[in-house]
Amino acid sequence: MAKIVAHMRLIAGALALAIVVALSAPVSAQQPNSVNPTADAVKEQQLLQQLKMIQGRGTIPDVKSYVIEHPVGRNWQEFHSVTLRWIGAIAILGMLLLLVIFYLWRGMVRLESGRSGRKIVRFNAFERFVHWMTATCFIILAITGLNITFGRPLFASTVGSEAFTTWSEWAKYAHNYLSFPFTIGVVLIFLMWIGGNIPNAVDVEWFKRGGGIVGDDHPPAYRFNGGQKAIYWIVVLGGGAVAITGYTLMFPFYGTTIDTMQYAQMVHAVVAMLFIAAMLGHIYIGTIGMEGAFEAMGEGTVDVNWAREHHRLWLEDEMGRGSPKGARAQPAE
Ligand code: HEM
Repeated sequence: MAKIVAHMRLIAGALALAIVVALSAPVSAQQPNSVNPTADAVKEQQLLQQLKMIQGRGTIPDVKSYVIEHPVGRNWQEFHSVTLRWIGAIAILGMLLLLVIFYLWRGMVRLESGRSGRKIVRFNAFERFVHWMTATCFIILAITGLNITFGRPLFASTVGSEAFTTWSEWAKYAHNYLSFPFTIGVVLIFLMWIGGNIPNAVDVEWFKRGGGIVGDDHPPAYRFNGGQKAIYWIVVLGGGAVAITGYTLMFPFYGTTIDTMQYAQMVHAVVAMLFIAAMLGHIYIGTIGMEGAFEAMGEGTVDVNWAREHHRLWLEDEMGRGSPKGARAQPAE
């Protein structure tokens, strides 16, 4: 009897165990992720801290695609969507504000001695062509570049995401292809005007006397004054920097890694913002900031009185040595 009871206990125990296993199996099958999510995140964080990146294994030949998480990417993302937007907004809007205030305070720098009616050649056709080609490319590169930084938050919701995508695609083509004539322009500008743009003592004096823009003084200058030399070097060095970093981004992984490309993007974008701000100042002086300046690059000639007020040493050189340029001084029609 005792044996039978013992057998029955064994069977009941086995049955109970079978029921527990049978009930628990489907539960765990329904919850394959019943792992503690917090514990998982802690593990991921530890992995990131220890390994600096999380990599898997893959089957395609491009091993770069095996990187799953790269914390530096988050820093870059933060730079791109927060820091860069602040830098750009402060540089560009700040410069616009300064120019408006300056214009309201100073107004246009007038030609004090009036027009003489005689003109002198300042830039030949080739120089003007190079200037306008580079300037046109620059303006389109600036607008299409700014679209990458600010376009989505500013316009996507207004114009609709489809229209924004189509415009951005064309903008990106323009940014890529116009980089080539822009780079050629920067190289030509460097070669064409380097002779007149080496800083010297006259520039120091020119800056000390406010460049003839702050105040009513007319400090002497050769063909390019201190301010123009500053613009020349901003174009050459800034243009060189955006070209090198831009091509690094345009042709990814040619001797670069994700890290170096992130640095290239940061340099490209920050230099571009400062470059745009500087060019706004240049455009201001060449148009509404100074009477008679635009015609130098528009028609290629300036009034002799303008040359005397703003580039006296250059005018003396041109007239004095009876060079072809000086000899071409001609009456205005
Ligand atoms: C040789 C000249 C240039 C080349 C090769 C070049 C190339 C590039 C490339 C490949 C990108 C990344 C685009 C992307 O993320 O899909 C870019 C972005 C950008 N470029 Fe240029 N670029 C050049 C000149 C300029 C100039 C002259 C400016 C402004 C005056 C400029 C402003 C910008 C800006 C603001 C961005 C967006 C930065 C960002 O938010 O990520 N670029 N450029």
